[in-house]
Amino acid sequence: MKIAVVGATGLVGGEIMKVLEERNFPVTELIPVASERSVGKQVTFKGKQYTVVSYEDAIAAKPAIAIFSAGGSTSLKLAPQFAEAGITVVDNSSAWRMDPTKKLVVPEINAGELTKDDKIIANPNCSTIQMVVVLNPLHKKYKIRRVVVSTYQSVTGTGKAAVDQLFAERAGDKEAPKVYPHPIDLNVLPHIDVFLDNGYTKEEMKMTNETKKIMGDDSIAVTATTVRIPTIGGHSEAVNIEFENEYDLDEVRAILNETEGVVVQDDPKNFLYPMPLTAHGKDETFVGRIRRDESQPNTLNLWIVADNLRKGAATNAVQIAEYLVQHALV
Ligand code: A2P
Repeated sequence: MKIAVVGATGLVGGEIMKVLEERNFPVTELIPVASERSVGKQVTFKGKQYTVVSYEDAIAAKPAIAIFSAGGSTSLKLAPQFAEAGITVVDNSSAWRMDPTKKLVVPEINAGELTKDDKIIANPNCSTIQMVVVLNPLHKKYKIRRVVVSTYQSVTGTGKAAVDQLFAERAGDKEAPKVYPHPIDLNVLPHIDVFLDNGYTKEEMKMTNETKKIMGDDSIAVTATTVRIPTIGGHSEAVNIEFENEYDLDEVRAILNETEGVVVQDDPKNFLYPMPLTAHGKDETFVGRIRRDESQPNTLNLWIVADNLRKGAATNAVQIAEYLVQHALV
């Protein structure tokens, strides 16, 4: 199967190619696409060199699937052109996520909604994906009323230039180009994506709105504070969950232990809890610090970590592509 990766020279694009290789996706030909300035560059896939091509050449090559990770404006412009040529687009940007005509998919939760007619499929926001894979099985059992989440997010979520800013600052380079409005090393920025009129950031509202759409339940209230920290391995989240019904802590652990794609790391006495350093490069979502919120009934606290370039982006997108292939939807 011919597969195009749009944004192949970026952080997520590189990760998509790694995940396609690791999961042995049946790629017969890889078509790497990036901006005009990268056409002619080489990328490596399965030990072979591939030349980056323009999006026009990629469309002409007629891949079955194009996995996009090249930003929202590129997606808005290019995804419809790929779709019109009969190519199924799996898009990592926020461009199509809340479009009511597009599916927003986390395979473990709602891939069953996909049909052959879905030509542009949206991959959710990274912070949202790792949260909903943990929330969904608990919602099914106890019904979630409200979620309060605070995130601790990796600079890799901003892209290559942000990782360069962090390491340049760490090396003492004061003149290095800045992606963030403030230093990121030795700092914490309560600011991810742009600020909106309601005082929240767009990232915070993505967590609120995308959670409802993926889990198919508008009654779940979600309030978020999203924060950038100087780490690279993954995003961490402190999540407070209020249920409609009573829960049992051992049962919560058992449910999460059985959930596909979730690994429970919860042995605080032995200092075992999820961290970006240990989640880095992994496809699973890690959950720990599972404990009762003693301040009110039916409420739970837990801590979720995942590699935002993996389950938060590349892995989830490749899993969508796998589902399309396995169910003959492309
Ligand atoms: P390029 O390297 O040519 O700029 P990151 O988020 O890590 O910075 O990566 C963004 C990715 O999106 C890169 O591969 C970048 O290519 C790609 N990209 C940006 N603009 C376009 C565009 N107009 N068409 C195709 N790819 C694009």
